[in-house]
Amino acid sequence: MARSVLTNRCHRYLNLPFVIEPLSYFDEVGDQLVHDYIYDVSNYTDFDAWLNIFGYNLFMGEVFYTPPYGKIPIHTDHSSYTNHVKINVSWGPEEGVTQWWKSDIIRKESTYNNGGKLIGEVNNIQHVWADEDKCELLCEANTNLPSLVNVGILHGTNNPTSEGRWTLSFIPQKDEQYIHWDDALEKFKDYLV
Ligand SMILES: [Fe+2]
Repeated sequence: MARSVLTNRCHRYLNLPFVIEPLSYFDEVGDQLVHDYIYDVSNYTDFDAWLNIFGYNLFMGEVFYTPPYGKIPIHTDHSSYTNHVKINVSWGPEEGVTQWWKSDIIRKESTYNNGGKLIGEVNNIQHVWADEDKCELLCEANTNLPSLVNVGILHGTNNPTSEGRWTLSFIPQKDEQYIHWDDALEKFKDYLV
């Protein structure tokens, strides 16, 4: 399913030495986008211990949901372009993908909304947004296996099926700073698929 360039800075599969379980409600099939935060990551001691090997720690997590025939609009996770990583795993159809894009026509909005369509809670974090018809696709990957993902470049999701697509996203940190893609690739090299 992956359609990635050889030297992609979008996505790599990770062979994690522990299992990430879906949340209890991940069999629900709603028709609205969902985005929530997991501030308490004390249930993820295996994950944190593994990150500790590299001098990282597990900062927090997020839950998001792409409904049937839905998309999470194209955005960056922060107010400007970076190459920061998160570790994602999804439960959904094989055809469900995360997609990475580039665009010369972007806008910045301080709430997590897009064209009036709210995604989860309002927050004060600025994001870069772009419209798909003004973007060029860089790569895409199904993330039903644990995946290192670059959230500092434009990305979104696409679920072209009648099934729901739930994703857990985890944020590794070092000294309260996000991890750069290149650092993560080097540190996780023995775990890359
Ligand atoms: Fe994102």
